[in-house]
Amino acid sequence: MISTLGVCYYPEHWDEAMWASDAERMVETGITWVRIGEFAWSRLEKVEGTFTFEWLDRAIAVLADAGLKVVMCTPTTTPPRWMIEKHPNMLAVDANGNPRKFGSRRHYCFSHQGYIQDCERITRVLADRYGADPRIHAWQIDNEYGCHDTIISYSDVARAAFQEWLTDRYGDVEALNTAWGNVFWSMEYDRFDQIDLPNLTVTEPNPAHVMAFRRFSSDQVVKFNRVQVNVLRAATDVPLIHNYMGRILDFDHFEVGEDLDIASWDSYPIGFLSDRLEGDDDHKAAFLQQGDPDMQAFHHDLYRAVGKGRWWVMEQQPGPVNWAPYNPAPLDGMVRLWSWEAIAHGAEVVSYFRWRQAPFAQEQMHAGLLRPDDTPAAGMEEAAQVAQEIATLGPLVQVQADVALIFDYPSDWAWNTMPQGADFDYFRLIFSAYRALRRAGLSIDIIPSTQRNFDGYKLVFAPGLANTDPTLMSDLRDSDALAVLGPRTATVTDELSIPPQTQPVITGLDVNIELSESFPPSHIRSVEGGGSVVHWMEKLSGSSPVLMKTEGGATVLTGDDQMWYLGSWPDETLWNRLVGMAATQAGLHTTALPDGLRLRTAGAVQFAFNYSAHSVSWNDQVFDACSVTAWDRQDRILK
Ligand code: GAL
Repeated sequence: MISTLGVCYYPEHWDEAMWASDAERMVETGITWVRIGEFAWSRLEKVEGTFTFEWLDRAIAVLADAGLKVVMCTPTTTPPRWMIEKHPNMLAVDANGNPRKFGSRRHYCFSHQGYIQDCERITRVLADRYGADPRIHAWQIDNEYGCHDTIISYSDVARAAFQEWLTDRYGDVEALNTAWGNVFWSMEYDRFDQIDLPNLTVTEPNPAHVMAFRRFSSDQVVKFNRVQVNVLRAATDVPLIHNYMGRILDFDHFEVGEDLDIASWDSYPIGFLSDRLEGDDDHKAAFLQQGDPDMQAFHHDLYRAVGKGRWWVMEQQPGPVNWAPYNPAPLDGMVRLWSWEAIAHGAEVVSYFRWRQAPFAQEQMHAGLLRPDDTPAAGMEEAAQVAQEIATLGPLVQVQADVALIFDYPSDWAWNTMPQGADFDYFRLIFSAYRALRRAGLSIDIIPSTQRNFDGYKLVFAPGLANTDPTLMSDLRDSDALAVLGPRTATVTDELSIPPQTQPVITGLDVNIELSESFPPSHIRSVEGGGSVVHWMEKLSGSSPVLMKTEGGATVLTGDDQMWYLGSWPDETLWNRLVGMAATQAGLHTTALPDGLRLRTAGAVQFAFNYSAHSVSWNDQVFDACSVTAWDRQDRILK
């Protein structure tokens, strides 16, 4: 496959006289795709039922005439002002009971049937007009579900929908009372219509109640998306896409992804480092203008799975953003590095956000490829360079990795509902495992917890996988891979209660958790041979062989030839040791990469990305600051 480049464009923001030269310049830069329309509802339907498509027709004509492929979006992320007059109760409500008002974007509750019907209606109007249009090569539905914390809504319509969802799931209210353990604190219900949303309670609500609400909230997103999928499927054969985000876990992306053809995500490496990642000051200082060396790759690997192999970067940071606490500019070379890293992980398209910086409104300080005065911004030259290099490098192939990491959205909801320690965050745990695998030079596939075929994998990691279907455990045991499970893997039921059988439920291992402890960052427990346990430790007993223990003699890791159970949260050194041990047992070659250098294999091509602001050496070679290197067998083909 040969990857291509794209750009996000807003014809409605610019004088029509500029469109043709914009389109020509896009093509000159080496851009193939242009995404339009996701925020344009007020310009398409200024008054309910009165449509003004002529400007969009002309924009599509100009872009397509220049040779660009159009990604058309449904505009349902930005309902116009009149819609709120039509449906005053369509706004989402926050946990304090306050409506999240009009005046920015994503101001809707996923449970509002009237709004959903209006979304279906505008999608149908767009599909009728452009569904068979050969200039439209893909559709994006809505924009960034979950952005600005918008999945969970405590509105009246959400409560009514939740009660229906509960009725479907439990059938009768006694079954719900039993499943949730409502006898505790006399929380028993007589009827489904008594059950409120789990906010504004005196102290914490029942975790089973919260977990049910989290599952319901995720299901509402799947249903909302499906309405538009159904309309578009009837009108077009081109791929349907959604643009997901970084570290948003409030809905099950795998379930939304089942209905779509391609997963895409919006990659803002520098914004994420300051806004969305834990990390000590030294790490954040070292990568301030490059982004975390593993954050992008993690999401590339995740969305490759969500897209069932097909994925894009729909929005790539091109310069400083406006929304993080601090917004430094990328170092020279980073826009190119991020683009190539996505391509090396299999991105079909890398699309920059946005063509030209807007001189007005909320994002006027957010860079584009062009400055507001039309002169090129720093990212432009690097995008053009990537386009040329793609042409020189030719096609790349993706092959299955040796290592799989199981990622499961409901596990995040479970540990978020019942963290039992301030630092127990599912993403943080999974990401610490992912980082350790990458530091060892490994390429990784992220897979859903529903996957049952492990053929070809030598190592499978499943940290923190909350509830597991016993078939997953037995299939893992039957596979040729070494499975590394825990901490907290298979320790709760679907209803967030302790399972009746001895836990954790790991097929073939005799291991019990006698108790679980969490502790603050000031407390660590040293492990024999190096490294420490941080945040979390389970007291393990049972007859399975002990593979690692603390200096105090407590079991850290236990297991046999096929499965290991890790009862602790390792620090960086301990993760490195653990990955090294597991790789050795699985027959995998590892290395110790310098800070900031990361590898990725794409078929016969080996890539190295140096996220460091200085050159680093590895394997007798020097890698320049912020550089991309690629080898095809012995020859360097990119530098
Ligand atoms: C994304 C969003 C874009 C734009 C961008 C700014 O989250 O999809 O519309 O707001 O962030 O970085």
